[in-house]
Amino acid sequence: MDHITLKPFPADFLWGAATAAYQVEGAYLEDGKGLSVQDSKNHSNAFHDTSVTSDHYHRYQQDVALMKELGLKSYRLSISWPRLYPDGKTLNPQGVAFYHQLIDELLKNQITPLVTLYHFDHPQALQDAYAGWYNEQMIDDFLRFATTCFTEYGHKVSYFMTICESNNVVLYPDLIGGVPTGIDVERWRFQVNRVMALANAKVINCCHRLLPQAKIGPCIGYAIAYPATCDPNDVMAALNEDEFRTFYPLDLLCLGRQNPTVINYFSERGLDIRLAQDELDLIASAKADFIAFNYYQSDVAKYCSQHQIQTQPKFNLAGQKGRYVYPQFPGLYAGASNPYLERSDWDWEIDPVGIRLACRKLYDRYQLPLMITENGLGAYDELVDGQVADDYRIDYLKKHLQQLQLAISDGVPVMGYYPWSFMDLMSTSNGYNKRYGFVYVDRTDTDLKTLQRYKKASFYWYQQVIQSHGQSL
Ligand code: BG6
Repeated sequence: MDHITLKPFPADFLWGAATAAYQVEGAYLEDGKGLSVQDSKNHSNAFHDTSVTSDHYHRYQQDVALMKELGLKSYRLSISWPRLYPDGKTLNPQGVAFYHQLIDELLKNQITPLVTLYHFDHPQALQDAYAGWYNEQMIDDFLRFATTCFTEYGHKVSYFMTICESNNVVLYPDLIGGVPTGIDVERWRFQVNRVMALANAKVINCCHRLLPQAKIGPCIGYAIAYPATCDPNDVMAALNEDEFRTFYPLDLLCLGRQNPTVINYFSERGLDIRLAQDELDLIASAKADFIAFNYYQSDVAKYCSQHQIQTQPKFNLAGQKGRYVYPQFPGLYAGASNPYLERSDWDWEIDPVGIRLACRKLYDRYQLPLMITENGLGAYDELVDGQVADDYRIDYLKKHLQQLQLAISDGVPVMGYYPWSFMDLMSTSNGYNKRYGFVYVDRTDTDLKTLQRYKKASFYWYQQVIQSHGQSL
């Protein structure tokens, strides 16, 4: 199988790169913008400060010029919800204007925008009013915001994503405002899943009604789960992880069905997660045009008995190997490390073959075209005499793209590839210590420095890849 004849990347393949609003824009309170749940976390740890980040709000023209030079066919941006609706309810024309300017600049440079509607940054006002995604009121508020995006930008934008990684935000509640006091985390997870699935469906239906030519899909983060050994109990644990973390939410979003094992697991713990039939019908009525998925690493799952203690996963914030806290979900699975793989300094295990496996598994189950909307290596980069020699990033991206081409050759339809990230940005968990970009941004977490942009070695490498349409890989 390794020696199959390689198929070329499709002629209209979207060679892209991605960012998200709160991680690059800065200007967190400018031109009428309201606070997002991300802004409210400012200074809660040394790495998190959204006030300036990469200053893209003020430098977007220069940044788009760099995208053009890189040769991007497409750029994935997210629209900041509180820039458009500072209090969640009232439209801010200056916020609307900013994204017109940014999208126009992209189009002027022949770069196709891919717009993420929600990337972890809902208005803090909605979190304060009713606990955000834990409450059904979020559905109408999100629909209002999404409808504005469709009516304002729909004649310029052909590709939309609904909610970024709805499956991961439930795994890490602190990413999106946290679990309200007194609420059980599993109850919260189920409810957020449900509210996001309903919102996703309404937004997809609205998009198709208003913009029949546009394509829209949900987005998940997929760390495929390998069994720790061929002990059938470990194999079961890996299936549990895949079903609970990826297939349950994605079955709901794409097929309008709930996995019976997951229903049963919660029912035995006193939580009835069955949706009403009219809710399932609504969800099933929304037909996604593609599945967007973010892939960084794979996971390992091992048997975890009912009697083990529950442990929630914890990111490695130290940037030194060996600090990630693996989860333990009694009766389901426990995380473990993979002895066959190298890992980043933040313990993200590097697994290029996993992207091919993920493509195969997702296409086999859903038969929808795929887009890889994030993939990349977070690393300590060093600027020396205006240069960044990030050969490790080139190696990571190259191997993943080679495996992606194998997935395409296997017959999986892949529409595009968006490495994370176009430029250095505030990493969700680790600020500017941990960089992902093709473009270096001269700042640290504590010093804004010049904010000047520098092209890394990976910039020139990816430029070649795009120019050769993947043949230089
Ligand atoms: C993805 C998120 O899950 O992971 C991004 O969509 C994030 O927002 C990326 O930046 C990498 O994670 P981190 O914590 O290294 O920034």
